[in-house]
Amino acid sequence: MPVCVRIPSVSPASTALGAAAALLAAWPATGSSPDEAQRIYQIHCASCHSGDRLGGMGPALLPENLRRVRRPEAREVIAHGRAATQMPGFSEQLSDDEIMLLVEYIYQPLEVMPVWARDEVLDSRVVHYGPGSLSDEPRFDADPLNLFIVVELADHHASLLDGDRLEVLTRFPTRFALHGGPKYSPDGRYVYFASRGGWISKFDVYNMKTVAEIRAGINTRNLAISGDGRYLLVGNYLPHSVVLLDADDLMPLEIIEARDAAGTSSRVSAVYTAAPRESFIVALKDIAEVWEISYAAADFPLRRIVLDDYLDDFFFDPGYHHLIGAARNANNAQVVNLDEGLKVAEIDLTGLPHLGSGISWEYQGRPVVATPNLREAEVSVIDLQDWTIIERIDTLGPGFFMRSHGDSPYAWVDVFFGPDSDAVHVIDKKTLKIVRTLRPEPGKTAAHIEYDRHGRYALLSIWDDDGALVIYDADTLEEVKRIPMKKPSGKYNVYNKTRLDPGTSH
Ligand code: HEC
Repeated sequence: MPVCVRIPSVSPASTALGAAAALLAAWPATGSSPDEAQRIYQIHCASCHSGDRLGGMGPALLPENLRRVRRPEAREVIAHGRAATQMPGFSEQLSDDEIMLLVEYIYQPLEVMPVWARDEVLDSRVVHYGPGSLSDEPRFDADPLNLFIVVELADHHASLLDGDRLEVLTRFPTRFALHGGPKYSPDGRYVYFASRGGWISKFDVYNMKTVAEIRAGINTRNLAISGDGRYLLVGNYLPHSVVLLDADDLMPLEIIEARDAAGTSSRVSAVYTAAPRESFIVALKDIAEVWEISYAAADFPLRRIVLDDYLDDFFFDPGYHHLIGAARNANNAQVVNLDEGLKVAEIDLTGLPHLGSGISWEYQGRPVVATPNLREAEVSVIDLQDWTIIERIDTLGPGFFMRSHGDSPYAWVDVFFGPDSDAVHVIDKKTLKIVRTLRPEPGKTAAHIEYDRHGRYALLSIWDDDGALVIYDADTLEEVKRIPMKKPSGKYNVYNKTRLDPGTSH
């Protein structure tokens, strides 16, 4: 498989002029200077988090990476460490003021864009098991297409679950802070994870082992795998790039800087696979463009679709002829025809739709997409032929994830935000009415439903450090089983994900 290796040299760091001045201006007037914070940091923290804060044995300490962590928590962690991890507490060695200085320091953006180009990416690559060194037969007796990976965020692990017996086959450590859904190879043997800190890990499901890893960025959003399983594309916030990897050995093939024609640089919001088009689609945060990168041609040509607004968070119609994206400035969603490279419609969605978790089905003979909204207590149902909203289903609060299955009469949506975040709604796909509201664990957030291969079970997460996986009979809606887990977040069924079931996001 000769692959044209073309790694454009990545020009070092667009140095924002005056960034240092801005840093000083943003500094709280405590009488201490950032130099002092940097000095303490170099003495006590650099050995694990690296001198440039890009991470080493410990995670990167940058505002982009610390988004999950609030300042008071960061302060607590620095003072008292984190139990059962290598992060020590510093309350004996550092004063409260010094700890506060460090907190401010790690939330300051870097003055220059970190360089993470060909050499840095290549040097990070680790191969744990070379080609041919592991068995081609699964080491377990279960349907390999009805397995789930469940990501557990509290202690950075993942569980491999048998979707028939509803039992955990193994639980293994992941990189720190996974982000974006893991992606399966088309045959389901491998699963690829991306972490917020930029690590891409390839896990051999049959042998239950991590086989190779590479750090493709400093702050990463997600990864996509080509329909033929040959390539991975990684989208980064830091640096502003997409990185194309060989899915086989994780070797970098291309690093493409995210810039428009005028040179304006952009964070990459997300990358997607459009399998019928044999391409990747790239969502850009800071420029009004959508990119399509073809993996059918050896030189991976890049096509820019120039738009009149910034588009984020995409849903694709079943043929991948159109995408719906959430527009940033306008109060709506926009439809882009990918064949023609044109915006063709606007949809009046004001509640910040979470289109990436949209699902589709046939309603009264028409294809529709249903999406939760992050700001409004509504599930919006949109006609995929004329882009009109045919129903707004009132919910108990804004939702995050929505799921169904091709063989299920129901669609599930969580109530992720607000006082009713412990509730989930079950919607009848024929009537568009809520037929049941469940509260699996009162007072604790219930989220992210996924079906098994056959549509028999619906699995949801109790989103808590001491949480659980709750499994429902998908027809009777009765609870079947509860498995304790450490802040389970997403769960990913091999069959539904690789066969692109319309009831799940892709
Ligand atoms: C011996 C290695 C080591 C040293 C020294 C160290 N850290 Fe850490 N730090 C870690 C590890 C490992 C973690 C991840 C812990 C976990 O798994 O939650 C961590 C986590 C953190 C976190 C939480 C990050 C997140 O995203 O949740 C912060 C904040 C932090 N460290 C700050 C500091 C600061 C500031 C210093 C210096 C005063 C320091 N650390 C020194 C190893 C270290």
